Amino acid sequence: MSLAIDLSGKRILVTGGASGIGAACCQLASEAGASVVVADRDLEQSRQIARVCGGEPHHLDVTDAEWVESTIDALEVAGRPLDALIHSAGILQNPLSPEMLSLDEWDRVIAVNLRGAYVVARAIGKRMSDRGQGSIVLVASIAGIQSGPLHSYGPAKAGVISLAASLAAEWGHCGVRVNAVSPGFTSTPALKRGIAREVMSDKAMRRSSALGRLLEPEEVAGAALFLSSRLASGITGINLPVDAGYLAATGWGAYGGLRSS
Ligand code: NAI
Repeated sequence: MSLAIDLSGKRILVTGGASGIGAACCQLASEAGASVVVADRDLEQSRQIARVCGGEPHHLDVTDAEWVESTIDALEVAGRPLDALIHSAGILQNPLSPEMLSLDEWDRVIAVNLRGAYVVARAIGKRMSDRGQGSIVLVASIAGIQSGPLHSYGPAKAGVISLAASLAAEWGHCGVRVNAVSPGFTSTPALKRGIAREVMSDKAMRRSSALGRLLEPEEVAGAALFLSSRLASGITGINLPVDAGYLAATGWGAYGGLRSS
C-alpha cells in the first residue's frame, strides 16, 4: 500500500467547506486527487473555494434536514456516488456563564453543531451503507473532551464524538467507517473573529498548548483526510485530537503551568 494519501477517483462532500478547516479540507482533498463538493450556507464563499480547488459549490444549511436530504439526493443522481464526507460546518460559542447564556443561543449552538452533524451523517451514511462502502469524518473539538465555559458548545461537541462511535458501530458491518477529529485552537476566520472581539485571548490560547502555538487549518485537514483515506481502512469509531498538545498540557496548571523555555 502506498503511504501517500491518495483520493483519486473519489468524490468527497465537505460541509462548512467555504471557510477555515473545511476550506483547507477542500484544498487538500483536491490535491490528493478527489473531486470535491463544497457545501456551505455561505454560497458566495463556497463558489470562491470551489473555483480554487476545482470543485462544485452547493448552498446548504445543515440544520435543515429536508434541504440536506434533497441536496444529497440531487448530488448522487446528477453525479457519481459520494465516497466520503467531512462534516466541518459548525459555529463557535462565546465563553459565558449559564446566567448569561440564553436558552435560544444554547439551542442554536446545539442545532448547528450536534443536530447538524446527525442530519448530514444520517442522510449520507444510509446511502453509503446500502452501497457497502464509505467514510465519514465529523469535526468535533477538544471542548467536547475537556470542560470549559462553553455550556452549549462543549456538550454539542461531546455529542458529536459520541455520535462518531455509535454510527461507526451501526454501519461498520456495511463497510462504512465513521470517525471524529477534535481540533484544538485553530487559526481560522471564526477564531480570528473571537480574538478581534477580545472574546478569546491569542496569548492565553497559545500558552495553553504544549507546542505553544495555534494550529493551522491544514494541520486539522491533514488528519481528517488521513481518516478518509485507505491508510485508515482499519480505523473506525475513534476521536483523534489534533490539538498542538492542549490535552497533554492542561494538567500542568495545578503545578504552576508549563515550563517556559
Ligand atoms: P469557520 O467559521 O471558519 O468555518 C465554518 C464554516 O461552516 C463557515 O463557512 C460557515 O458558513 C459554515 N457553517 C456554519 N453553520 C452552517 C450551517 N448551519 N450550515 C452550513 N454551513 C454552516 O470555522 P472553523 O473554525 O473552520 O470551524 C470548523 C469546524 O471546526 C467547526 O465545526 C468548529 O466547531 C470546529 N472547531 C474549530 C476550532 C477552532 O479553533 N477554529 C476548534 C475546535 C473545533
